[in-house]
This record gives sequence, C-alpha cells and structure tokens, in this order.
Amino acid sequence: MFDAEKIQKDVEDFTKKAKETTSLIELDNIRKVLFGDKGIITLASKMIGKLAPEERAGAGKVLSSVRATFNPVFEEVKEKLESVELKKQIASEKVDVTVESGDSSVASLSERLNSTLGARHPIQVLQEDVANFFQSIGWQIASGPEVEAEWYNFDALNFGPDHPARQMQDTFYGEQLNTVLRTHTSPVQARSLIDCGVPLYIACPGKVFRTDELDSTHTPVFHQCEGLAIDKGLTMANLKGTLDAFFKAMFGDSAKARLRPSYFPFTEPSAEMDVWFEHKKGGAGWIELGGCGMVHPNVLRSCGIDPEVYSGFAFGMGLERTLMLRHDIQDMHDIVEGDIRFSKQYGLES
Ligand code: DAH
Repeated sequence: MFDAEKIQKDVEDFTKKAKETTSLIELDNIRKVLFGDKGIITLASKMIGKLAPEERAGAGKVLSSVRATFNPVFEEVKEKLESVELKKQIASEKVDVTVESGDSSVASLSERLNSTLGARHPIQVLQEDVANFFQSIGWQIASGPEVEAEWYNFDALNFGPDHPARQMQDTFYGEQLNTVLRTHTSPVQARSLIDCGVPLYIACPGKVFRTDELDSTHTPVFHQCEGLAIDKGLTMANLKGTLDAFFKAMFGDSAKARLRPSYFPFTEPSAEMDVWFEHKKGGAGWIELGGCGMVHPNVLRSCGIDPEVYSGFAFGMGLERTLMLRHDIQDMHDIVEGDIRFSKQYGLES
C-alpha cells in the first residue's frame, strides 16, 4: 500500500534527525533507512508500478517532494560534518617540526607521523654492497641503458647474427628496430671499453630482462652484476683471485670461488663460477652463481682494443640468487612483490 501521508511523516522525522546528528556514520544510517536497498523511499518507488495508472502521477509527485525535502539537508549536514572530521584528523597528525630528533623523550618520527616509515629494498642494498666492494679495490662503477641496442647486447659480444647462442637468452625485442631489453649486464663491457678505453676495471650492477614466467626461482625482471678488467698481462689467476676476495666480502671468510669449464661467446676460455657457501643453519656446498672467463679477442676488436697488447677477464652473476643464498630466501615472489614487511627485514641494512 502506498501511504503518502506516512511516507511524508517518516521523511520529515528522519530529516529532523539528520539535522540534529553530529556523526557521519549516523547520518549515513539515516540515509540508508530512506534510500538503502530496503529503504522507505526505495520500496515506495517500487510500489508505484503496481498502482492504478491514475494514481501513479500523484505518488510520483509525493516521492519527488520528499526527496526535495531530505536531500539538501543531507548534503548540507554531510559537508559540515566532513569538514569537522577533516579538521580533527589534521590536528591529530600535526608534526612539530621544531622538536629535536635526538631527544629520546620524544616519540620517533614514525610514531609522530602515526604511520610507518618505508624500507629500502634488499636488492638495492645488495647492489650498493657489491659496488662498495669493487670501489674498495679500486674499480669504477659503470652503467648502461636498460633498453639496449642489439649490437651492444649481442654483436659486440661476439654473438654473430645467426649465432645459436642468441637463443640461449630469451629476449624481449623492442618495437624500435634493433633494440632489446638488455638480457644481461654484459653490454656495459662494450660500452665502457668504447667510451673509456684501456686499462679498465669496472663493475656494473643493474637490471636485466628475459621472457621467463615468474615462479619461485625465476622472474622476468632481475639483476646482475658484471665485472670487467682489461689491462696488460691479466690472466685467469687474476680472475680467480678477484672472485675469491669478492665472495669472501659477500658471504663471509669461509667462502671461495671455483671455476668449471663452460661456453660463452664473449669469453675464451669460459667458465661457470661456483661459490663455496656455509649455511648459517649448518651444512656447506658449491653453488653456481654465474659465468666468467677471459675476454674473447673479437670483443676487444669490436671495441677498438688490440688483443695482442691487452687481455683481461669478465664475469657476470645473478643478484637475486646471491640474495636468496645470503639470507636463505626460498621464494622469488618475496623479492619481487615489494611487500614492506619483507623489505623491512633486510632493507634497513647499510
Ligand atoms: N652474461 C652472462 C649471462 O647473463 C653471464 C656472463 C658469463 C657474464 C660470462 C660474463 C662472462 O661477463 O664472462 O648469462
């Protein structure tokens, strides 16, 4: 039954209540009583269709008039209460910038801001640790673009155009002709040799890309660190010594490097490099970390360096793998998801 009088009376009562309320929640409850799914006005509107045709217009007018009574009051009260709440919130979050940070009687910055501070991502911290080590032995830190020319990513590194080794790396090709998302940090070798010449000692931590699916051990976007040393008279013994020192800095004094024969187009001879790693929980073993070798004469030639005079070594290693090993992280998802609760465990290391 469409009872116009009752509807008008109800709406008047609730409009009065709305005027008097001091709470946004209560205001919204009042709105729901009228306009919610089972609200008085909602049900009344549904009823109109069932009325006799000659009654419909009158009922429609009643509903629009009660809407016109309630809605402006609702909007006005809502605006007023929201501005009161905002003022309260601003007052509660006020930060006294004149308080000295060293004062222990004062709440920490995050407490005063009533929020948590962020944490640096452990991969970022690791990249800096690696860079610090190489700087400490007198090397320079180099970088290159992530969208790379195919020539630097492959050709300069002795991957011929039809070289089967191009298939070793699952490449994202760019829309622009002859560009790729770099599949490794090795193109920085060629860039740095061309830009800086020899002798050259560089390390290059950075982001690389391959068309892998994300799972517990793979991610399409990951990080590597490349190393390159070119000088007169460098040998594989220098490579082994550098890796030993680097691994000790990264994994502790008991760590050391082992080389196993392998193949890469840009090195000859080439090797896989393993690290001897002692787990904190006990147990130890050789774990593969990357590749290395003596830089191929063709790479030196591509960069305008005479291989009869200069020689040197290069290596590349995965940083996610290093991080997982160092901190016993089991699942790659933890590294890529960027959850602050994960980063906080490692991210504040310096
Ligand atoms: N770029 C290689 C890769 O991503 C790793 C690598 C192997 C780098 C041997 C090197 C090297 O510098 O000499 O699989």
